Amino acid sequence: MIIKSDSNMKNKMSVFKIIKSKVPIIIAHRGASADAPENTLAAFKLAKRMGVDGIEIDVHLSASGDIVVIHDYELNRTARMPDGKPLKSRLNVEDLTLAELRKYDFGIWFSDKYSGEKIPTLEEVMDLIGSDILLNIEIKADRKKPFRKLSTAIANFLCEYSKKHSVNNVIVSSFNPLALNAFRSKARKLNLVIPTGLLYGYSPEVPWYLKRGQGRFIHNPDFMLSYCAGLQNKGDLSSIGLFKKRPVFVWTVDDVASATCLIQKNITGIITNVPEKMLTLKTVGT
Ligand code: G3P
Ligand code: MG
Repeated sequence: MIIKSDSNMKNKMSVFKIIKSKVPIIIAHRGASADAPENTLAAFKLAKRMGVDGIEIDVHLSASGDIVVIHDYELNRTARMPDGKPLKSRLNVEDLTLAELRKYDFGIWFSDKYSGEKIPTLEEVMDLIGSDILLNIEIKADRKKPFRKLSTAIANFLCEYSKKHSVNNVIVSSFNPLALNAFRSKARKLNLVIPTGLLYGYSPEVPWYLKRGQGRFIHNPDFMLSYCAGLQNKGDLSSIGLFKKRPVFVWTVDDVASATCLIQKNITGIITNVPEKMLTLKTVGT
């Protein structure tokens, strides 16, 4: 039986409250990823210091069942051996335990300054970020990968975490509407209400028949997260059919002219690699 307690309904309300008070909200994509190695604690600390409204992270499930924060399905692009050399073979995140993943360096590929950065767990990131800014957890579950275990693990984890800390600032997003269904269904069984966001656009992770946001007919999300290309030619984005009644975040917007244009078309927030630059748009009251 599904019971929604008042306190859990507040989770959803709180996210909307945070968003409403800060529109246009500026979300750091994989942390402050233009200035620090993506999806590392260093990138999240830096984004916090910049004063962002939110942080976006990507998560996968390790072989030991730990939820780890990394974008790619393989380690190779962002992981190096402890001596800084590239990995000798292709390695999948899901094939390694947390202890094995921790042996690699996830900072040195970006700059020597960040050598020694380890792959973070979702728990470490949540402890660092706290509950004052939004946390957008993206379930990495493209159509070729099994997603149920990861979606369920995230719901279980958030439920446990919510017993000691607030999760009022959390949104769970994905390109895969089925992964969002699996997450929501498990979360509801655990009496946990977390808003969801459907990502769509011209990403290889989205099958062609869902590229224009049709995934919303499979999973009814609280937010739409649209790829930025093409939106500038459209009218008021808050009132066209696709987005109606749902706040819209746009990714990944790194130039001020595009961001200004999108904000004028009433989008709710921008996901960016350069949050410091985008935050200036708020202060000038664009
Ligand atoms: O949340 C928007 C963005 O993160 C989706 O694309 O590939 O950077 O995870 P990607
Ligand atoms: Mg992402």
